[in-house]
Amino acid sequence: MKIKNAQNKLLNILKKMTMEEKIGQLYQAPFFSDVVTGHAFDASSTIERIKKGMVGSVLSVHKEETLYDLQKTAVESSRLGIPLLFAFDVIHGYRTSFPINLALSNTWDVDLIERVSKMVAFETSHKGIHLTFSPMVDLVRDPRWGRVMESNGEDPYLSSVLAKAYIDGYQQGDLSKEGSVAACVKHFIGYGLSEAGREYNTVDLSKRLLYNMYLPPFKTAINAGVSMVMTAFNTVFDRPATANKFLLKDILRDQLSFNGVIISDYTSSEEIMNHKVAEDMADVAFQCFDAGLDMEMVSESYMHHLKTWIEKGLLSVQALDQAVLRVLKLKDNLGLFDNPYGYFYKDSDQYILTEQALNLSKESAEKSMVLLKNHDQILPLKKSDKIVLCGPMIDQQDLIGEWSALAEKKDVISIVDAFKNDGDFEILNNQATDIRRADKVILALGEAGDQAGEGNSKADINLPEDQVTYVRKIYDLNPNIILVIFAGRPLIITEVDALAQAVLYAYQPGLQAGPAIKSLLSGDSIPSGKLTMTIPYHQGQIPIYYNHYQTGRPFDPKRPNYRYNSRYRDCKNDPLYPFGFGLSYASFIYKNLSISKQTLKKYDKLLVSVDCTNDSNHRADEIIQLYIEAMSFSVARPVNELKAFKKMTFEPYETKTINFVLTVEDFRAYNITMDYTAEKRQYRVKVGPNSKDLMMETIRVIDQS
Ligand code: BGC
Repeated sequence: MKIKNAQNKLLNILKKMTMEEKIGQLYQAPFFSDVVTGHAFDASSTIERIKKGMVGSVLSVHKEETLYDLQKTAVESSRLGIPLLFAFDVIHGYRTSFPINLALSNTWDVDLIERVSKMVAFETSHKGIHLTFSPMVDLVRDPRWGRVMESNGEDPYLSSVLAKAYIDGYQQGDLSKEGSVAACVKHFIGYGLSEAGREYNTVDLSKRLLYNMYLPPFKTAINAGVSMVMTAFNTVFDRPATANKFLLKDILRDQLSFNGVIISDYTSSEEIMNHKVAEDMADVAFQCFDAGLDMEMVSESYMHHLKTWIEKGLLSVQALDQAVLRVLKLKDNLGLFDNPYGYFYKDSDQYILTEQALNLSKESAEKSMVLLKNHDQILPLKKSDKIVLCGPMIDQQDLIGEWSALAEKKDVISIVDAFKNDGDFEILNNQATDIRRADKVILALGEAGDQAGEGNSKADINLPEDQVTYVRKIYDLNPNIILVIFAGRPLIITEVDALAQAVLYAYQPGLQAGPAIKSLLSGDSIPSGKLTMTIPYHQGQIPIYYNHYQTGRPFDPKRPNYRYNSRYRDCKNDPLYPFGFGLSYASFIYKNLSISKQTLKKYDKLLVSVDCTNDSNHRADEIIQLYIEAMSFSVARPVNELKAFKKMTFEPYETKTINFVLTVEDFRAYNITMDYTAEKRQYRVKVGPNSKDLMMETIRVIDQS
């Protein structure tokens, strides 16, 4: 009944709308005076357009007074008073910044990500914003690409699980609930495959790769009720994603039954002219709308040309109505028709930077950092340790990372600040004599917050030479080096890694960087993060990722120098650290992998068990990972595919039996005839602490139909 009433309400509004007003709902306007990607924008023109009902949504405005004025203009000065939808990139925090998303994914912690995104939504929604352009679920394989920092890493299963966690946290299952915001999953699709890691570059992928690897996170996001999908800048099957009927209609609408709003990326609709698939803006409007794009971000092709195409009968008014209804429905779900000012609050600063938010920022920073090396258990620090704090980033506050919304660097607590406010350790000066007599040297380096993110592709991701030289210099004075590495991506750290006794990869941790690092180094909290993106050994190995195909001439460790195997003459194949890897101060022993049956039929449940022991006196978390490998299949499949994981807390010396339940579903993939099937063949089931150190058992699928 409620749904029917809402539908009638929207249909009544639609009936009153002129064609121009309908097209207006499909325009997301900028509101600034600037020149971006060659366009001069003038904020005042947006106001005039709002009055004429030519604007459906506004992006990237965050000043509450401005938002309020814009909404008031729409509601009081436009003919039908349809409220505006306010969208903003709140990617890993609004005012309280959390670690970058790549770091958050290292937590493998669904509950934590949901708590973080709920907190992000809480701050955002109390500051006038209705929708965030998040989560970004592009799979990434090339750390040269700056946007790896926004992603969940290289695995489709993990990214799917985390996508749902983000959406559940943002949307709260009910957009009318106070504290929720609408989510927009992006970028549909394949953007993470930009050739050579160069921003906005061409993408080439096969249909099967698209379905097996790239689609699952989007599918999960849609099943989780995501409100919006954003198209990607790149081409897919030689058509720009934004004007790609196969992607938008066949896949999103027909196969995945997505009935929310499809929006372009920033001017990506008109960029199809640069891709040389459209002649002019009229052509842009036709091709994008015909392909299934509802809303244009910033571009004005619909505004100026859609009407003509519809009047000529070449695009249908029914399709226009459907697109408009989707936008109106989103606004209605957000409660905007009931109260267009519902996201404005008195004294709204009370909702940001709360103690709870800062604690959560610290907790997530601690859980997202990855301990890569801890030689001779140099960590945790001992209370009696005399330490030196040094390195180019030891007092750095530029640790928020890109897409930081309204977070401010001045609020970031650096490592130096965290240590100096505490009398736990004797902190020596970083003069040569002091470095020599120190027990341990904490050395921070890496790349600052603005080095990754959109438009920050790098051809060279080696640590800068002066940083390597610096580490060598310190090493000559005192080899007890504990490296803390800040970065928005996996950097090439091979040389400094070899010089250090311990390495903590800290990414860009956000406001609580210093306290989180201090807590981990001193053992107040125990490292538990595990890599979701491979750290290469050498730049020339890129792209490098764990779920690659086997080759016809695989590398053979017994004949490492055999020329005609798949290998490099001048470098090993293995990465420096593989996907799934991360150390703890505890050590975990895996034993007794067992499976409940040797053959598997439809409706069967396969129980996979393993005993995991915490062989230490630390209470610690471990992420237990389960992978499969198809021993044969009609098409090549990855050497390992993550299918399940569990993050568990272990008491000192505790042993737990970890159980996973698999079914035929977990063995399926798109095969040679594009059937989604678990072919009747042999598979390996593997369990372990990372994608490299795995125990295995074999199972045969004998019936799946
Ligand atoms: C990015 C999107 C972002 C949009 C709006 C684009 O440049 O690719 O991810 O949501 O801008 O700011």
